[in-house]
Amino acid sequence: MYSQDQLKHQVAAAAVDFLVPKLTSDTILGIGTGSTVDIFIDTLAQHKHLFKAVASSSERSTLRLQQHGIQVLDLNQIQSMEWYVDGADEIDQLLHMTKGGGGALTREKIVASVAKQFLCIVDESKVVPQLGAFPLPIEVIPMARQVVSRRLQELGGDVVWRQGFVTDNGNDIIDIHGLSISNPAQLESLINDIPGVVCCGLFALTGASVALVAGQKGVTTLS
Ligand code: A5P
Repeated sequence: MYSQDQLKHQVAAAAVDFLVPKLTSDTILGIGTGSTVDIFIDTLAQHKHLFKAVASSSERSTLRLQQHGIQVLDLNQIQSMEWYVDGADEIDQLLHMTKGGGGALTREKIVASVAKQFLCIVDESKVVPQLGAFPLPIEVIPMARQVVSRRLQELGGDVVWRQGFVTDNGNDIIDIHGLSISNPAQLESLINDIPGVVCCGLFALTGASVALVAGQKGVTTLS
């Protein structure tokens, strides 16, 4: 029986195998954030001579990438890129995701928006029939925390401020527990429209293009 950590290593290795044949000296990769991505970065570093640079979605990933000697570009220097690689907190069969458990959702969504394709790397515990068991993170402007919380309460879940946590952008995170998310794209739009919301942790309006899922029987692909 593989542990969750072993599965993360397997999916990180599979992602590198998937990407290496596609790399050229001009390739710029988008890099997500989280424990799975940390392992992916460590594995990718062995092939750093095969691509040009990366765009990073967090201070955490930037530090790790730079420690490996991988060039991290400012996103403003990048017109487009083919692949963004990131984990997820939950993913459904239609490749809608909940992200932001680590609080990096806004930069993740921004960097992902520049990439043509999103490669999601998860272990099988993240694959769910319906999103919602994992609390949905929302990044908010600090002065709007209370007013946004009141609006989010109307959606039916329990709204919890992630007290003491500050995002890389200097904002707060509110987690919505206990939501049953039957229409992720509609909910993402609705939350996006609340004044004071910086980013909703649903990645459904634009989901993943491909997901690699590590399970006890090996790595499978969802697309
Ligand atoms: C970071 O804010 C998140 O979106 C992560 O991508 C997500 O939480 C997956 O992280 P793990 O790989 O640590 O589970």
